[in-house]
Amino acid sequence: MAEDGAVDNEWEADRYEADHAFVYESSQDLVELLDPAPGERIADLGCGTGHLTAAIAREVDHPDGGPSGHAIGFDRSASMVAEARSSYPAVEFLQADARSLPFDATVDAVFSNAALHWISDQEAVVSSIHDALRPGGRLVAELGGVGNVATITDALEAELVERGSPGQHGWYFPSPGEYATLLEAGGFEVRDLRLFDRPTPLDGADGLEHWIEGFGDELLDPLSDDERSAVIEAVEDRCRTDLWTGEEWVADYRRLRVVAVSQ
Ligand code: BEZ
Repeated sequence: MAEDGAVDNEWEADRYEADHAFVYESSQDLVELLDPAPGERIADLGCGTGHLTAAIAREVDHPDGGPSGHAIGFDRSASMVAEARSSYPAVEFLQADARSLPFDATVDAVFSNAALHWISDQEAVVSSIHDALRPGGRLVAELGGVGNVATITDALEAELVERGSPGQHGWYFPSPGEYATLLEAGGFEVRDLRLFDRPTPLDGADGLEHWIEGFGDELLDPLSDDERSAVIEAVEDRCRTDLWTGEEWVADYRRLRVVAVSQ
């Protein structure tokens, strides 16, 4: 776990764009659920390479010259923020810690896709989101829910333990009940909360390898390059029956989607 309460991962924006575009491509409809309106101020927490922030920015701008809204993307990774700025120079992106968003009850909505499960100190994040939102402002978010990518994490953990490494992943994948309790304790009214399976194809025959290499740094870091390769191969073997279709890897994603209103 990193010192700032996030799961350690070496984020490489170009690799993310090349191998993990499904992260934002498969959640375009989350922007529809957010339903950004012209003139709104919206923060995108964990914006990655900025594609969904840019989609939100297009909606908050007034088409007919009315008061313009503002979409700001935040990410903990400097590499992601740099990539987002270079792709969308007209949109604002900042490197920031989700536990201390720089707003004081001035934001209409906080949006977040596939970012919250990277953070261990969930109470601090909920409190920071609550502080950022005006009363009546909304949180619209998607994160991994209970059982998310369990075939992969079980295989990784089992393989690491067999090799004498500590094998406990640090991602936060809550149940709906657990997450609703957390939000209510943090001053939110939960309006909509859904857990659903979203089997997610990973690109190419090496899709699972790329997924583990792209996201699994915290677990794989103690290993040498040779050990890493051996673990990844062994994890592929363990997952093949459940996740390999004969043509591609399909990861067992389970999403938790929430709409909650700040009280
Ligand atoms: C997810 O989006 O569910 C996820 C991505 C990388 C690691 C763990 C979970």
